[in-house]
Amino acid sequence: MSTVTLDWGTFTEARFLREVWQRKPLLLRQAFAGFAPLLSRAQLFALAGDDDVESRLLQREGRRWQLDHGPFARRQLPPVEQRNWTLLVQGVNLHVDAASDLLSQFRFVPDARLDDLMISWASDGGGVGPHQDAYDVFLLQAAGRRRWRIGPVRDATLQPGKPVKLLAHFTPEDDLILEPGDMLYLPPGWGHDGIAVGNDCMTYSIGFRAPPQGELLKEVLWQLAESQHGGPIYTDPPLREGAAPALLPPAMVKFAAQAFAKLKPDAALFESVLGAYLTTPKPQVWFDRVEATPASLRRACQRTGCRLDRRSKMLYTAQTVFLNSEAVSAELAPSSLLRVLADQHKLTAQQVKDATPAELTVLAQWCAQGWLLTGEVAPPVATKTRTRRG
Ligand code: SIN
Ligand code: CO
Repeated sequence: MSTVTLDWGTFTEARFLREVWQRKPLLLRQAFAGFAPLLSRAQLFALAGDDDVESRLLQREGRRWQLDHGPFARRQLPPVEQRNWTLLVQGVNLHVDAASDLLSQFRFVPDARLDDLMISWASDGGGVGPHQDAYDVFLLQAAGRRRWRIGPVRDATLQPGKPVKLLAHFTPEDDLILEPGDMLYLPPGWGHDGIAVGNDCMTYSIGFRAPPQGELLKEVLWQLAESQHGGPIYTDPPLREGAAPALLPPAMVKFAAQAFAKLKPDAALFESVLGAYLTTPKPQVWFDRVEATPASLRRACQRTGCRLDRRSKMLYTAQTVFLNSEAVSAELAPSSLLRVLADQHKLTAQQVKDATPAELTVLAQWCAQGWLLTGEVAPPVATKTRTRRG
């Protein structure tokens, strides 16, 4: 567990949610007083060299920007003394327990909104330029100093010909210097431009995605279309000799429109599609399979219980429970134990002991898939599985 905890100071969490969240920026000086970086610069650079880790390198020379995508061997990164470059490592919480623990301090926001923890390292002058994000973000200064210029975006025109989206006409309203432990909250769409002041600047971005309605609709429509798979086959109305061969038959257009009009999505469908979608692990996530049976799980949990793997994503609704894009069986859908696991990310030894046979069976299956971990480390099976839908 990260040793320092989020301190709201004179502010309170309730006041933040009521007055600030999604409305306006807030700077919390020493929100994490005494914060020590969870990874050293060398450890972060090493992570950026990993195939399973998403990373970007952004370098600036005057008005020229260069973007490269990882993985990066150390020699592919510029020397740390060179000015104006930054390395951005995405999804650090998927790889480092301490980073995942840090995110657990932000669970006053629903898990369904959580995206990831991105860590940036920047040399003096480094940054990603003026931009806006479709995220609520907490920018925690972990090491060094960063100057943030922030303000509402009145003109979203982008600079042409740049490898990253840079605002062409950004007029900041506030100019702030963040020291280690300070944290700046920005609502989605707020303009910001952070520049490292001095070397060894590390910023942690705790991002909460605000999914566009069209994206959620796409998932629902896709699922609905799948459920209609097959259906009646199009038949031509009586054809006339000499009709224009390239004309798209209006009857075929009507046929497709009728299929759409027949769709009657109910609330349960929206819940099941969103539950599966929002618990889909990130594309680069792999789980290590292990041998596990209900009996072996019960034994392994006797002293320490069990916990979700940090890469697992779990949500529930009043109807059912989702883990890593799968909904549980109808028999387990009402389980309060599984909801405790989703909220707490762990179960005590006693809770596992009290599990019903069906609950124990599903817990053992999740353990075998590597989604759930017991205190005792079971030997990994040779195969790794990537959990994906479809
Ligand atoms: C950074 O850490 O340099 C970028 C974070 C952001 O602007 O969202
Ligand atoms: Co940003």
